[in-house]
Amino acid sequence: MILYFSATGNTRYIAEELARLLGDEVLDLCPRIKAQNYETIYSEKPFVLCAPTYVCAPPAFFIRYIEAIELSGNPDVYFVSTSGGYSGISGAVMGRIIRKKRLHYMGWAEFKMPPNYIANKPHHLPEESVIRERIDQASQDAATVAEAIRARQTLKARHIWLLEHLIEAPLHPVLSRMGHRVDGFLASDHCISCGICARNCPLNIIQMQDGKPVWRGTTCAHCMACIQNCPVEAIEFGNITQGRKRYRLKEYL
Ligand SMILES: Cc1cc2nc3c(=O)[nH]c(=O)nc-3n(C[C@H](O)[C@H](O)[C@H](O)COP(=O)(O)O)c2cc1C
Ligand code: SF4
Ligand code: SF4
Repeated sequence: MILYFSATGNTRYIAEELARLLGDEVLDLCPRIKAQNYETIYSEKPFVLCAPTYVCAPPAFFIRYIEAIELSGNPDVYFVSTSGGYSGISGAVMGRIIRKKRLHYMGWAEFKMPPNYIANKPHHLPEESVIRERIDQASQDAATVAEAIRARQTLKARHIWLLEHLIEAPLHPVLSRMGHRVDGFLASDHCISCGICARNCPLNIIQMQDGKPVWRGTTCAHCMACIQNCPVEAIEFGNITQGRKRYRLKEYL
């Protein structure tokens, strides 16, 4: 079974491609994460866990969720990351968690996708042709990865250097807890009160009040599901996102 979280569609696309190629089921973990549903997930076929990269590792809430649930049936677990180009220590982090659950870690595959971190100052969405090239390349890579999974081979991603572990392992939890402030998010008067942002938020940070979204608390995962999927582009993050093109993979298919 293919399990995934995706905010803007990159990881969903890879997960659904793998499911199609393997003739396997695919499960979006977001509703379960939102509902804090920790029921055991059973699969006869190997598990394939798919997640984006947030600051060189999988999202902290995804890690916590995988740590908390029981995966039963087939003991083989693959990991797939998507990123804007650099998945950091993602494979090492997930490998450790999977082994700790006494399951067989079957390796890691990285997919380089269009970057989606629009609320980050250095973010730059590439030209449309580059976006399409990346998606095409990812589709080809998915076929190779699916072939290896079908043959029950271990996936071999690149080597993670000691320096990457030393810098990124402490950086990821600190930035995940403190770095992603919510006070920059605001919905403009263009908001049509559809509630999509609140429904998509994996952490239930957004509440609809008098028909408008309100961001609660001080930090969130900065997954970008709210700002990127608003149908009328009513959400901004301070002045960083003003005038920036929104990104959703499905618009390039
Ligand atoms: C908070 C945040 C942090 C990110 N950090 C990285 C990173 O460290 N390296 C990278 O290459 N891409 C990074 N990205 C880009 C995403 O990993 C990438 O676009 C991913 O494919 C998005 O997946 P999704 O469309 O399934 O949500 C980051 C995105 C966000 C929102
Ligand atoms: S997704 Fe956009 S339009 Fe819909 S409620 Fe949220 S801010 Fe308003
Ligand atoms: S508030 Fe927006 S960016 Fe933050 S976790 Fe929720 S959907 Fe993601």
